[in-house]
Amino acid sequence: MSRNMAFLIKFVMDSNIYSAMRSKKIIYLNINTFNFLRSLVLCALLIPFCIHAETAKTETKYIGDENKGKQIAGQICAACHASDGNSVIPTNPILAGQHSAYIEKQLHNFQVKQGNKKAMRENAVMLGFASALDDKQISDLAAFYSKQTISPSYAKDKDLALSGELLYRAGDLKNGVPACGSCHGPKGSGIPDQYPRISGQHAEYTKATLLAFKKGMRANNSQMMTISSRMSDEQISAISEYLAGLR
Ligand code: HEC
Ligand code: HEC
Repeated sequence: MSRNMAFLIKFVMDSNIYSAMRSKKIIYLNINTFNFLRSLVLCALLIPFCIHAETAKTETKYIGDENKGKQIAGQICAACHASDGNSVIPTNPILAGQHSAYIEKQLHNFQVKQGNKKAMRENAVMLGFASALDDKQISDLAAFYSKQTISPSYAKDKDLALSGELLYRAGDLKNGVPACGSCHGPKGSGIPDQYPRISGQHAEYTKATLLAFKKGMRANNSQMMTISSRMSDEQISAISEYLAGLR
């Protein structure tokens, strides 16, 4: 920027000297015309600066501050999700190590957005807590939880988990259920910004959220709504058990 400014100043000075020289030597040179042309060139040169400054202003995205997130988490969320996001209550999801973009999206989806009658993801408890947060606090919380290390849950029923494994790896072609690993990865760790981590999560929570997708209470992703609607409740139980123990 500063180098460009220096160039601009030099340009103006040089052209001043130039016009002075021209005005002495060439009697017929119309100085006004020359100045006008020079202003045009200057304007043209300055336009990209102005546009750049404007777009830079709108493009700047707030980066979540994990320390601010830690404070809010400790004061409000820890009661249910534990201080580091490793909830030990099986109905409350583990948030530690989850991708930040996913956490951010969910907190927005729990809110009732302007012009809508209900939240995309309906949950009476999280509606209240998410609605009390502003956009920056949501980014702060997402930054905090995504940087914590997960203490994974575990599978309790081995046979149930084994039948879930088959579904996870191969899907259920007959009923149009794709292999979960094709999006969530072979170890269920997901892909940041695209697919959430689903391994090591409490089976009770996973089961509840897949059923919510199936029934339409969680209507914040069409892919998962379709997939869940094609799974039997037994398959949902099995896959949830398998995911709790997946590492
Ligand atoms: C009273 C208990 C309680 C409190 C307090 C609470 N939560 Fe939750 N949270 C839940 C429950 C229960 C769910 C599961 C909701 C569902 O099934 O849709 C949940 C779900 C979530 C999810 C979705 C996780 C996922 O894997 O999709 C996020 C993110 C979340 N909470 C963040 C927070 C944050 C941030 C706070 C503090 C501002 C907070 N919660 C406070 C109980 C709580
Ligand atoms: C086409 C890609 C795709 C496939 C295949 C897929 N998922 Fe998902 N899944 C997603 C996306 C995207 C989300 C995030 C949804 C959102 O933004 O709320 C998600 C979310 C989830 C969640 C919610 C996680 C949480 O913390 O609440 C669970 C559980 C889940 N998927 C399980 C599965 C299972 C089980 C299968 C296989 C039967 C599967 N998924 C197959 C794309 C996929």
